[in-house]
Formats: sequence, structure tokens, C-alpha cells
Amino acid sequence: MSETKQTRSISIANGPSFLSTPDNTLLADLEAQGIPIEYHCREGYCGACRCKLISGEVDYTVDPLAFIDDDEILPCCTVALTDVVLAI
Ligand code: FES
Repeated sequence: MSETKQTRSISIANGPSFLSTPDNTLLADLEAQGIPIEYHCREGYCGACRCKLISGEVDYTVDPLAFIDDDEILPCCTVALTDVVLAI
């Protein structure tokens, strides 16, 4: 049985764009693309990876504990639900 994975376009403001599937966190995708991003815990605790979500929707794989602003996300524990644009 074959399974079709929906791909999402991930764009970095003033930077590159690439395709992602919901299988990977945005942090894993950014690393795979060689895009530099700060991180530490990789589990939503520290907030080191925070970045601005300019457009699009994401979902959290775990309940994050780090405080973030309304327009920020934690790529270490989010997957893209739609095409997204991020500012890092
Ligand atoms: S790396 Fe710690 S919250 Fe993302």
C-alpha cells in the first residue's frame, strides 16, 4: 500500500525555500537544509529555537513550556500544517 505525503513549502524571509512533510519537525528540516538556527533542548523547554511565524499554520508535537510571543513558534517541536514563512 502506498501512502502519499503532503508536502509543504517552507520559506525563510529573505532566504531559501524548500519542501517539507509533516513527518519532520521544522527544526529538523532547517538543519537538513543547512540553515543556521539556535537550539538547545529540542523539546520545547528552553525557547532557544524561537522564530517568527510570518504566515501559515503549525502544530506542536508536544506541549511547549517555553514562553513565546503570539507571533513566534518553536521549530524544535512543530510541524507545518500549511505552507509557512518564517523569520529566523
Ligand atoms: S530548542 Fe529548546 S525550545 Fe526549541
